[in-house]
Amino acid sequence: MSITVDGERHTLDVDPRTSLLDALRERLGVTTTKKGCDHGQCGACTVLLDGRRVLSCLTLAVAKDGSDVVTANGLATDGDLHPVTEAFLANDAYQCGYCTPGQICSAVGAIDEARRGVPSAVTADLTADVTLDRTEIAERMSGNLCRCAAYVNIVTAVEEAARDDAARRSSTLETQR
Ligand code: FES
Ligand code: FES
Repeated sequence: MSITVDGERHTLDVDPRTSLLDALRERLGVTTTKKGCDHGQCGACTVLLDGRRVLSCLTLAVAKDGSDVVTANGLATDGDLHPVTEAFLANDAYQCGYCTPGQICSAVGAIDEARRGVPSAVTADLTADVTLDRTEIAERMSGNLCRCAAYVNIVTAVEEAARDDAARRSSTLETQR
């Protein structure tokens, strides 16, 4: 199978039972993506697969032949941290760092989902644009556990990143008009 990880193409032979998480960590040496529970319960292994967030421990590598994976490593561009990573730093949104790569990938995915109008379990009006308020953020990030309970700051960081993202997009639209 072949797979692109953080912009680099890899070809590898894997046992059909190998999870994407094990392929990343054991075969490709991408140890930023963490193995917490290996059961789909902690979110530490979250990566972006073809732009959508997935739990890599529950994803079979061979099923994703040809796909594009972005881990927390690959979010930076030209040496600049991703705005979500910046927001986590600015808001002291992590402590141990074990859950952080998954939290950041998940936050990037959650902001994109909201932008595309994907509702969550707490979205009241399914026809309106999604606003990432603290309740929406808590719900959308609920699959990512933090044993240090940095949740308050994580929600603040995602809220700030979502607000900045919306402002950036609207100013880009203004410039294009
Ligand atoms: S390691 Fe995948 S959800 Fe915990
Ligand atoms: S900062 Fe990693 S578990 Fe909380």
